[in-house]
Amino acid sequence: MEFNKISANILEAIVAVVGESYVLTSHESLEKYSHDETEDLVYYPEVVARPQTPEEVSALLKICNENLIPVTPRGAGTGLSGGALPVRGGLLITMERFNKVLEIDEQNLQATVEPGVVTEEFMNEVAAKGLLYPVDPASKGSCFIGGNVSHGSGGPRVVKYGTIREYVLNLQVVLTSGEIIWTGANTLKYASGYNLTQLMIGSEGTLGIVTKIVVKLIPAPTLDALMLASFPTNEAACAAVSAIFRAGIIPSALEFMERKGVEWVKQHDDIAFDLQDAIEAFLLIEVDGTNQDVIFTDCEKINAVLEEFDCRDVLFADSAAQKEELWRLRRTMAVSVKSNSVYKEEDTVVPRAALPQLIKGIKETGAKYGFESVCYGHAGDGNLHVNIIKANMSDSDWNNKLKFGIREIFELTVSLGGTLSGEHGIGLVQKDFMPIKYSDVHFALWKGIKQVFDPKGILNPGKIFS
Ligand code: LAC
Ligand code: ZN
Repeated sequence: MEFNKISANILEAIVAVVGESYVLTSHESLEKYSHDETEDLVYYPEVVARPQTPEEVSALLKICNENLIPVTPRGAGTGLSGGALPVRGGLLITMERFNKVLEIDEQNLQATVEPGVVTEEFMNEVAAKGLLYPVDPASKGSCFIGGNVSHGSGGPRVVKYGTIREYVLNLQVVLTSGEIIWTGANTLKYASGYNLTQLMIGSEGTLGIVTKIVVKLIPAPTLDALMLASFPTNEAACAAVSAIFRAGIIPSALEFMERKGVEWVKQHDDIAFDLQDAIEAFLLIEVDGTNQDVIFTDCEKINAVLEEFDCRDVLFADSAAQKEELWRLRRTMAVSVKSNSVYKEEDTVVPRAALPQLIKGIKETGAKYGFESVCYGHAGDGNLHVNIIKANMSDSDWNNKLKFGIREIFELTVSLGGTLSGEHGIGLVQKDFMPIKYSDVHFALWKGIKQVFDPKGILNPGKIFS
């Protein structure tokens, strides 16, 4: 696709829409928008616009559509697959001024929120009313809810409550034509034709720009229990995961962490936690509800399962502060691993019972190609974040050989019934691996959909598929 550069005339038109103070063009001011949390990739946009209303987004898209200017929508830039990188230059539209919670409807247990609201701030506002919005990615303190929609995000509590797909009821979307539509209805059920709401979720800014989000809320559980179980091997920990569900329990979180990840968090962050010898892996398990006796019985049942899988120790968090500390251990893992080494992060997901085979295969592939890996993630969902660490790998092997090892990991994931990403998205960095899982028929369907929404291909070009 041949795009045009942003000429002086086009820049003038952009300024006329949002006002001069909301248009950035200097190299220093564009720097913040040239990267996200994906490895060390850098792409500068030509211009950044910071609109505040759907009408402004509409006018910007019309200008870009008419003039063949690529447009990259951006949330908070916490993405891990390069989705927000303006790889073709052009206009970057940042949603940071769409930062209001518009309504919390306590009659219907719904809320209407703008895409630039920080996820945790929204969760807190909802919690103040005794309600729960449970979609809590590890980056909840810095990511935007709009970015979560774009990636179909999850987080630790998906295992009981579901991903953002289960909460979004309706979306206001601006199309490349400039039209502003609502994708569905503010209802809990929807059997009225093709579901455009679900199509937009996870479309990574390639089909339209979301400007309002209606989500479902639920009553908040009032009690929880948190335990950290230690295992001598990764495989034992992973094997215990599916057994917990088979025992009749649905935990509100079931996270896996490898020892190395915990060691690195401890180096990076001052977390009081004693790491025993001969422990290779941990499961962080949370149960929540409204009845203490039920929670207690669930914990006992989980304990009995863990014992069958060679669990060496179970630490029960006995205070709110200790719970917070254990969650911090898990939530800061991504940041700690990154600050320790050159890395690449994959986001494999398999049916839960296949986790032991997945982790075994990842380690075998690492041994074959000479890379280390630190794995952690949402084991209850079968979702393993695989952080590939450069360690002693030569630059040449890292740049040329590693991709074959990653390919093998994805081939294994797919052979186990899984797919390439559970929650981080495909974006830029995973798109070359898509043919491992998807056929020409899938690509033809996706391209057809893209063509309908964005005939000129201006929206987030170079992402998901070429
Ligand atoms: C996490 C992010 C990386 O789970 O998805 O920590
Ligand atoms: Zn995650």
